[in-house]
Amino acid sequence: MTTILRRNAPSDIDVHDLIREGPADFRVNGLVYTDRDVFDLEMDRIFGASWVYVAHDSEIPNPGDFRTAYIGRRPVIVSRGDDGGINVLLNRCRHRGSVVCRDERGTAKEFRCRYHGWLYANNGELIGIAHHRGGYPDDIDKGALGLRRAPRVDSYRGLIFASMKPSGDSLADHLGPARRYIDLQFDRSPVGRVRAEYGAHRSEYRGNWKFQAENTTDGYHGDTVHESFWRVLAEFGHAGGRHGAYTQQDMRDIIRHRQTGRTLGFENGHGMLEYPIAEDAVDAMRRGAHAAYMGRLEKTHGRAALGDIFNQMNVLVFPNLGLLHGQIRVIRPVAVDRTEVSIQFYALEGAPDAYNDERLGGYERFFGPAAFGSPDDVEIFAMNQTGLQAREVEWLLLRRGIERETRAADGTRTGDPTDETPQRAFHRMWKRLMAA
Ligand code: FES
Ligand code: FE
Repeated sequence: MTTILRRNAPSDIDVHDLIREGPADFRVNGLVYTDRDVFDLEMDRIFGASWVYVAHDSEIPNPGDFRTAYIGRRPVIVSRGDDGGINVLLNRCRHRGSVVCRDERGTAKEFRCRYHGWLYANNGELIGIAHHRGGYPDDIDKGALGLRRAPRVDSYRGLIFASMKPSGDSLADHLGPARRYIDLQFDRSPVGRVRAEYGAHRSEYRGNWKFQAENTTDGYHGDTVHESFWRVLAEFGHAGGRHGAYTQQDMRDIIRHRQTGRTLGFENGHGMLEYPIAEDAVDAMRRGAHAAYMGRLEKTHGRAALGDIFNQMNVLVFPNLGLLHGQIRVIRPVAVDRTEVSIQFYALEGAPDAYNDERLGGYERFFGPAAFGSPDDVEIFAMNQTGLQAREVEWLLLRRGIERETRAADGTRTGDPTDETPQRAFHRMWKRLMAA
């Protein structure tokens, strides 16, 4: 049995012993997903230290616009100031702690706390105290009682991140070589910008947040978890704009295609699962209904780059952001065994409406609330959590493909599409931060 016993304090956890790695071994202790102290430590050492995705800047285009979000369990307000700058403010009244903004998004000059009425400007400054006179000194230092700010805020290609740690790696360094795969997805817009203009849909599951982080780049589960989707395809077709049943040969081609591709695991915990687009599919797009759009992309990036741009890429940006299938997926840890996933489709700015509609249709089929994909995934995460209650078995095995993966000079590892290369990268970073 494990030597990790009940601790007196979260800081006593020997995180080094929760993940074990050898030349042909990679295992993660079940406590990583089930232990409350581990979860509390994650909220400090991962969500309280790393860059965490909070919003897309197209959600707050104008001064006064805001949306609410979370950094781990901390509620925050992301607002656009009068100067156009972005504020990430802790959504916690300085009086007695209530959230001061309850709306998901909107436009506001100020936020009034609903408990006792303290008033904050949308940049967080305290501008009014209800029934001030007599209750507090006239010269109370309002300047010291504004909403607390996240110490660091930065963005990349419109993706806004915040860090609760005042110093450390820049966002660019944190993203490192994973930036290329964000670029490629957003370069599908002829002007290089995306708009998260549709609302998000959310699901909550009874399982640990890392199940969704791992699954975002998991090329191993599709045949089983999404078996019903493949069966529907085989019977009715209706995917990728196509109508009519797939033939056996079509299905064999799909399965063969899913065996091509690769997984990447980056040094800072990010990962990617990639399936290449077929050459003739790129050519079909160049000749098809959206030829003018493809022409614009070709002019900017060159013919050779089109394949890279349209490859299917599932990217996980450590710790809480997924970019895949034209969506921004945000993972919010609620408790050790409760997680909220929000999925937001984005439009490619400058692309024809008909093309964005086609993309939206594909998204709705697999990821929407009544779709074939996401509901099956979250179901499996809850089953994962239940299985882990059998504590007599200590370890989860994440060694798949460890002996065949390769490692580049910058630390990026490459594996086969069903290998657990991205998941291992995630857990190596997890361990690094948790042990810090
Ligand atoms: Fe906000 Fe009292 S808690 S005004
Ligand atoms: Fe899935």
